[in-house]
Amino acid sequence: MAAAKSVHLCSACGHESPRWVGQCPGCGEWNTLVEELRVRPAVAGAARAQRSAGAVRPVALRSVSAEEHARLSTGIGELDNVLGGGLVPGSLVLIGGSPGVGKSTLTTMALANLAAAGRSTLYVSAEESAAQIRLRAERLRGGDALAIPVIAQTDLHTVLATLESERPEVCVIDSVQTLNCAELSSAAGSVAQVREVASEIMRVAKSNRIAVLLVGHVTKDGALAGPRVLEHLVDCVLQFEGERERTYRTVRAIKNRFGSTNEAGVFEMRDDGLVEVLDASARFVAEATRAPGSVVLAAMEGTRPLLVEVQALVSPSELEPPRRVVAGIDRNRLALVLAVLGRHAGIGLGACDVFVNVVGGVRSDEPGADLAVALAVASASRGAVLASAQGKPLACFGELGLTGELRSVAHAERRLAEAAKFGLSPVLEPGTCRTLREAVQQALGRERPALASA
Ligand code: TYD
Ligand code: MG
Repeated sequence: MAAAKSVHLCSACGHESPRWVGQCPGCGEWNTLVEELRVRPAVAGAARAQRSAGAVRPVALRSVSAEEHARLSTGIGELDNVLGGGLVPGSLVLIGGSPGVGKSTLTTMALANLAAAGRSTLYVSAEESAAQIRLRAERLRGGDALAIPVIAQTDLHTVLATLESERPEVCVIDSVQTLNCAELSSAAGSVAQVREVASEIMRVAKSNRIAVLLVGHVTKDGALAGPRVLEHLVDCVLQFEGERERTYRTVRAIKNRFGSTNEAGVFEMRDDGLVEVLDASARFVAEATRAPGSVVLAAMEGTRPLLVEVQALVSPSELEPPRRVVAGIDRNRLALVLAVLGRHAGIGLGACDVFVNVVGGVRSDEPGADLAVALAVASASRGAVLASAQGKPLACFGELGLTGELRSVAHAERRLAEAAKFGLSPVLEPGTCRTLREAVQQALGRERPALASA
């Protein structure tokens, strides 16, 4: 019965098949068939009626009324900041993150604050029972979370009907992958299901002006499980990063129709919920080891400077090719840095395993991290401590060019000011050093015999 309501369409050639097959009978492509709901007759009729209505009149942009959105504050400064000043009524925000990072905690805390501020809220859990949600709410400081109305439901149509009858101002759907549309035969969490769930929720949210926080799980490689499609659909995509075992987590916007994607917030998971970390630089600098292989990166988290420790370990390898293991930076970026180190600074590590880690679970995807990675690796391979004159950790930033030059990066003054605030001047950066070779020489002093040579 379910099969009659849905069809399988080839995403390459559009061939229609009543059931899923591995190879499209139309074009011969593999794994291209995606389940879709058959267009409902009523909707199709409406679409036809609209088509016969004829042309519409374009209007000049200046005469389009653009109402100023009154934002709803989540009461969590860092989250409001990332959203661009709070939640926009009727908007759809997708919060992606790996299991255990704290998505349910963050969204529960936001709803608790909104409820305490007199907003009507609703928490839809398709993952946990109401009792489990209550246990979490009891842990959170303040006790406001116990006032949140919840439903534990996995059926999409029940959830939609509840949304339409309750019409909350803000609603959390936890998670988009566990809600299930019964008309589709594919399992919850499949591309077809997730797409249907998200677009139906969006339809109801827009027509009732409900701001929705849609929770989504991400896979190991960081993509939202299955549905890239979701990113096009929603107004805002937030990425919640950090590992379960680590204390620090960051929230950043990777798409935002109502604000910039430059903002990021740092949180710490405590026993009684997530706490905003406003003095992250101070902590990271205090924790920096000042051992060989450690350097402080003057990074940017959005428009805010942040000092983080970058660590490297270099050891002779027994593997061919040797290992390149990273946490917090891009693997390809490390490959580039190692190539430039070998070619332009005389530090070849072709026979060594190289491990690089940004401490505290922070991710740094900006090119300004290149120099820090290079210096941490150089320091690790030489077994030499990088320290500035007063025994403080060495701070640096800058992008590496393929010809071994240091290239300037955005917000140099803010990075320098942050480093100065913690007594980490002078900073090794493109303004004081022209090439990587120069930077390595300044940082390590005279060339010393390598511990692990290529
Ligand atoms: P959770 O928000 O359930 O993660 P997600 O919804 O992203 O899967 O919780 C993440 C982890 O945080 C969980 O293992 C328990 C822990 N935790 C705390 O340490 N303190 C707290 O106050 C809460 C609520 C959870
Ligand atoms: Mg959860």
